Amino acid sequence: MPMFTYQNGVLHAEQVSLAALASQHGTPLYVYSRTALEQHFNAYTKALGEWPHLVCYAVKANSNLAVLNVLAQQGAGFDIVSLGELERVLAAGGDPKKIVFSGVGKQAHEMARALEVGVYCFNVESEAELERLSAVATERGQVAHVSLRVNPDVDAQTHPYISTGLKDNKFGVDINEAPRVYAKAASLPGLEVKGVDCHIGSQLTEIRPFLDALDRLLVLIDTLAEQGIIIEHLDLGGGLGVQYRDETPASAEEYIAAVKARLGERRFKLIFEPGRSVAANAGVFLTRVEYLKLNDHKNFAIIDGAMNDLIRPALYSAWQDIKPVVENSDAPLRTYDLVGPVCETGDFLGKNRDLALSEGDLLAVMSAGAYGFVMASNYNTRGRAAEIMVDGTQAHVVRERETIASLYAGESVLPAN
Ligand code: LLP
Repeated sequence: MPMFTYQNGVLHAEQVSLAALASQHGTPLYVYSRTALEQHFNAYTKALGEWPHLVCYAVKANSNLAVLNVLAQQGAGFDIVSLGELERVLAAGGDPKKIVFSGVGKQAHEMARALEVGVYCFNVESEAELERLSAVATERGQVAHVSLRVNPDVDAQTHPYISTGLKDNKFGVDINEAPRVYAKAASLPGLEVKGVDCHIGSQLTEIRPFLDALDRLLVLIDTLAEQGIIIEHLDLGGGLGVQYRDETPASAEEYIAAVKARLGERRFKLIFEPGRSVAANAGVFLTRVEYLKLNDHKNFAIIDGAMNDLIRPALYSAWQDIKPVVENSDAPLRTYDLVGPVCETGDFLGKNRDLALSEGDLLAVMSAGAYGFVMASNYNTRGRAAEIMVDGTQAHVVRERETIASLYAGESVLPAN
């Protein structure tokens, strides 16, 4: 994470001290680097170069308006999965004509709004959805552009919860069924077939599964051509992994070079939907040590950040590096479990970490820019953390810390008898 470095013994985001941010804004706190977001996004566009393309950042990874706006300014398109994400992209100044709408459960009102603003394409996941979309478009006197999300049945070799390209997953249409479902799409009055889409999983560190999926899609595209259905674009989804620990993920450059080599003369417009590889290593989560609890067999550091702020460790046993914001040379080095105040045994951000800690020390959970804040909840009536974006020497509050009163503002008690 080159935008997060120690300067005079203090961890910084770009040129801003994380210790200073924590003092000013409190903890827990998410901090993002604008430069890192831009660099990670532009790795895709640079590698694609002259090849016709659209890089649609997967909004679900981090949907803060400032993040979306920074990426929109770089020319990003967006991959959305809900009306909420659509409205966020529009509010952040994103171009609706660069939006792809994914997701297994699109509702009619969501389709209608997406048609109204003129999204680029719907990634349709079932026959039933094709019918509904055609009906919604016809009623509006419009034609919806569609890709079918095809399930190529390749093993992405990632965590089972984030592997999506296998037959057993709820996502997409079985590749063997795809020619028939495409014929149906082509026959429906409110639809125009534009592309083929797949997304096989997340945090893939090898290129191989992507290429296996691509090979199967190319066979499908030939079959469709024989049926008279001509494909304009190929959407390979997101999924490129990042380094959390000692993984050595392929870079966007390597991945895209391999895809281009496979395509050769077949210059379909390429769409990618990266989320994690843009946002994860562009953000950290700051938390402070409240108490040290030293037992005979285990040491706990009880911190003010919890599973409601960052659920990846609890949910996927995900490992994210945890660093001291300021090196503490006075405290003894011990092995700690870093646990939050939430009343669940699963409430930990890290286990068996060797750290020299005192009460009040500040820690940074690294690689927290993707699937961090967006998955936060208010469990235990804990307000969600504030979010900061650093831009060079400047830091901007891009989301206020939630107040306690706001957490129950929409609730009411029964009328008095
Ligand atoms: N496109 C589609 C259709 C997706 O379902 C996803 C992620 C992406 C793109 C972006 O994938 P990425 O480039 O971020 O790998 N919460 C989990 C990850 C869930 C991913 C869901 N789909 C985690 O924290 O690891």
